[in-house]
Amino acid sequence: MRHIALVGFMGSGKSTIGKALARRLGWPLVDTDAEIVRKHGPIDEIFLHEGEHAFRGYEEAAVARAIDSDVASVVAVGGGAPLHAPTGRILREGAYRVFLSVSVETIESRVRKSQYVRPVLGGSPTREQINELYRKRLPVYESSDAVVDCEGLGAEEAAQRIYDRLRDAEIVS
Ligand code: S3P
Repeated sequence: MRHIALVGFMGSGKSTIGKALARRLGWPLVDTDAEIVRKHGPIDEIFLHEGEHAFRGYEEAAVARAIDSDVASVVAVGGGAPLHAPTGRILREGAYRVFLSVSVETIESRVRKSQYVRPVLGGSPTREQINELYRKRLPVYESSDAVVDCEGLGAEEAAQRIYDRLRDAEIVS
């Protein structure tokens, strides 16, 4: 079973583009962050009370559940998922990974506008902090099966671009 996993930095649009892509394919969307919240509560509270290690364990389990399913799905994962070795391996082996590439400037402005505090960056991250994490993670994201430039695209346009790439690569028909 080859699922489609959307990976990328926080604020790259994985959940919204995931919804649009799932609709286009007629496949279900699994949003692993949302699954974690349903099972374990808000992500910032998990980080606060149980630590990042516990969160990465919950994330690994949520990704494994999604990938184990025999219903082909679009799986939107949290930004750190491919960086955690066991979760990265599950994704590599069980999904066609699409990296949603957007500029660090776009990420910075979305992270700043967002109500949701990203615990890996803290409440009001500096440009340097965002840049540093971006640079550190980029090579892992870029090692995905496909890199799709989503800069400046709305969710529907991005979903269309991904869909076209998946058809070209004969991942979907
Ligand atoms: C994280 C990204 C978040 C969430 C958690 C950790 C990360 O998801 O999984 O806060 O390490 O980049 P989004 O990428 O959906 O913001």
